[in-house]
Amino acid sequence: MNTAAQVDRAELEGKVKAMYREVAENPHGEFHFEMGRRLAERLGYRPADLDRIPAEAIDSFAGVGYYFNLLDDIEGARVLDLGSGSGMDTFVASLLTGPRGIVVGLDMTDSQRAKAEALRQRTDVRNITYVRGYIDAAPFEDGSFDVVISNGVINLAVDKPQVFREIARLLRPGGKLAMADIITDVQLPESITCNTTLWAACIGGAWQAGRYKDAIEAAGLRIVAEQSNEQYRFLSDNAQGATRKFGVKSVSLRADKA
Ligand SMILES: C[S@@+](CC[C@H](N)C(=O)[O-])C[C@H]1O[C@@H](n2cnc3c(N)ncnc32)[C@H](O)[C@@H]1O
Repeated sequence: MNTAAQVDRAELEGKVKAMYREVAENPHGEFHFEMGRRLAERLGYRPADLDRIPAEAIDSFAGVGYYFNLLDDIEGARVLDLGSGSGMDTFVASLLTGPRGIVVGLDMTDSQRAKAEALRQRTDVRNITYVRGYIDAAPFEDGSFDVVISNGVINLAVDKPQVFREIARLLRPGGKLAMADIITDVQLPESITCNTTLWAACIGGAWQAGRYKDAIEAAGLRIVAEQSNEQYRFLSDNAQGATRKFGVKSVSLRADKA
């Protein structure tokens, strides 16, 4: 099992931060995964929405699926993006909430937040803020948000049950989680889960689908919608080999708090 016992947390955090600093600063470099506008459109983002947000945020988009279609109207909502990266989903969320809503992006990687905030300042968007922090111990009061979103992030967390408990704590009663993430058909072997580079590339930390969904429901969230993101694929040979062998795949989910 890919648990806290097997992976060195400090080493993993260092590798994740280094990888996503590169994603922010050098989005056209070589990665295990695809990024950018072509990926976003293939996953289902509406070109008309993408046309309205900063192109550099889209260049550094490293999400794994589209999930905004799983939400009802979120006009005026308070939205938290866990692992907001260079901010593409915060800009999309801001389009959907309109100026009466607020959007907060939480991320531990300084260059990702710095890029997102610099891009925001070049726009007339006033309802997005970026906060430094960890998704398993977020610096917000209980029930602060109507909607939590997250894209390609929770697979990177060592303690996923704690992340889902944190989401349940942050949502108001009736609040909604909408997210995309990497899961697997079968449990990954230790040769992959102990490899912090593959973990940082969104593969090594992926949980088997049933275990992942059980953790969501155990936190007090009820899964109400699910879609598989067949359009998502990894790029490197190493990553593609693991994908074929263990059924590593992307899924979008919505889960509601009672
Ligand atoms: C694969 S990227 C996705 C970024 C963004 N959601 C997107 O779609 O482009 C993962 C992001 O999650 C952040 N991250 C990973 N683990 C985190 C944690 N435990 N706490 C806060 N941020 C984290 C990384 O810094 C990185 O920016």
